Amino acid sequence: MSDKTNKAIRFDFTNTLAASVGKKDGVAPAEIKAFEKKVVACHRLLLADRKSGKLGFFDLPYQDALINDINGTVNELKGRCENFVVLGIGGSALSNIALQSALNHPFYNLLDRDARGGFPRIFIMDNVDPEYFAGMLDVIKPEETIFNIISKSGGTAEPMSQFMIIREILERKLGPRAPEHIIATTDREKGLLREIVGREGFESFVIPDNVGGRFSALTPVGLLSAAMGGIDIAQLLEGAAAMDKRCSTPALMKNPAYLNAVIHHVADVKKGKSISVMMTYSNALYLIADWYRQLWAESLGKKYDLKGREVYTGQTPVKALGATDQHSQVQLYTEGPNDKIFTLVGVEKYRREVAIPRIYDRYDDLEYLCGKTMNELIDAERIGTTIALTDAKRPNLTLTLPEINAHTIGQILQFYEISSAFAGQLYGINAFDQPGVEAGKIAAFTLMGHKKYAAQRRAVVKKIRRDKKWIL
Ligand code: PA5
Repeated sequence: MSDKTNKAIRFDFTNTLAASVGKKDGVAPAEIKAFEKKVVACHRLLLADRKSGKLGFFDLPYQDALINDINGTVNELKGRCENFVVLGIGGSALSNIALQSALNHPFYNLLDRDARGGFPRIFIMDNVDPEYFAGMLDVIKPEETIFNIISKSGGTAEPMSQFMIIREILERKLGPRAPEHIIATTDREKGLLREIVGREGFESFVIPDNVGGRFSALTPVGLLSAAMGGIDIAQLLEGAAAMDKRCSTPALMKNPAYLNAVIHHVADVKKGKSISVMMTYSNALYLIADWYRQLWAESLGKKYDLKGREVYTGQTPVKALGATDQHSQVQLYTEGPNDKIFTLVGVEKYRREVAIPRIYDRYDDLEYLCGKTMNELIDAERIGTTIALTDAKRPNLTLTLPEINAHTIGQILQFYEISSAFAGQLYGINAFDQPGVEAGKIAAFTLMGHKKYAAQRRAVVKKIRRDKKWIL
C-alpha cells in the first residue's frame, strides 16, 4: 500500500475554541491546559488496566495469528457460498454493518460475483423485525448460505431467536449437512451458544473475555464478515495499530483521542453541549456514525460514578449525513438550542470522481457548477457548514480521512474506542458496563414467558395496563 493511502487522519479542533466561537460556547486553551495533570493520571489508570489484561480492546490491533486464521476460513468458504448472513445485535452487529458500508461498493450485494471479487453477498440481520428478517429469507437460498451467529453472552433474545429460525430451516433442508452452514462467534467458555457449539459441532470463533461488545469490532465479531466481504483486515489492524501508537502518549496536545475526549467533556459539563453530532460528508461513513452512536452512548451514559454517587453522565450522540442533512437538520443546528458539539467527517480524496457536465453554462445560476465535480461540491458544502456553525457560535471539529480505506477506517475505530475509554475516566464512570440496558431486556423476557423471570410477571403486566381514557 502506498504512503498516500496510509496517511494519518487529521483532527482539526480550531472551531471548538473560544477564539472561534466565543468564551461562552468554546473551549479556552487554558481550560484544556487545566486538564493536563488529570490526563496524566487517567492515562496511568488506563495503562494499568491495559497491562493487567482488563482492557483487551487496546491490544486487538496486534493479532497476526487471528488474521491468518480468518483469512484461511474465508478462502475455504468463499467458493462454496453465495451469501454470508450475520445474526447479531448491538456490539455484535454495528461494526459489521459499518465496515461493509465504509469499505465495500455502495451497492455491493447487487454486483455480480466477479465484480465482488468472488466474495459472497453480505447480509447483517441486527433486529427481530419480522418483515426485515422474512425479507432476507426471500432473497437467499439457505443451502447457498453461511450463517454467522454472533453473541458474546450467548443468550441474547434477538440473535438467538434468529438463530433458532435458521437452525430449523437448515435442519429441514440439509439434515446432517446443516452444521456446515453455521459459524458461531461467542465467548471461549461461557454461555449457552458455546454449549450448543460444543454439542452440535459448528465451526466457531472466540470473542476475548476482556473485550466488551461495543469494543469488539477488531475481534472475529467484525473481522470475519469483513473478510468474507473481501475487506483487507490486515490493513484494518495496521491502521488501528498506527492510531494506538499515536494515542499512547500522555501529552494531551499530541494525543488526538485524549484531546477529543477532553474537548467533548468540557463542552458537555462546562458549556452545556449535551449532544454530540457526528455529521459525515460521505454516505459510506454514515454507518460509522451509527457505530459511534452506540460506543459513545453506552460507554458514557451512566447513572452512577465509580464511587456510587448519582451523576447521570453522557452526551446524546446523533448521526447526520452531509450534504443531505443540510436540507433537514442544519436549520436547527445553527439556530436552535446551542446544546451541541459537532464532528464533521470529511474525505480528502474520494474513491470516485464524478464530473458535472457543462451543459447549462448559459444560465448564471447553474454556470458555477459547470465543469466542476461532485467531489468539489460536497467539499464546499462541508466547509460551508463549518462556517455557518462557527458563525452561529456552535463548536465544531473536523476529522479528515485522506481517503476511505481499511487503514483509515482502522484508525477511526481505534481513535473512538480510546477516546470513549478516556472520556469514561474523565467523567469518573465505568465506560465498560451497560446496566441500563438490562431493565428493558428483563421486562421483555418476562413478557415472553422466560421461566427465570416468572416471579416478576405480575409486576410487569401491571406496568403495561392502560386506562383507555389516555388512548385516542
Ligand atoms: O455493547 C454491548 O455490550 C451490547 O450492545 C451487546 O453487544 C449486545 O447487547 C449484544 O450482546 P451479545 O453479543 O451478548 O448477544
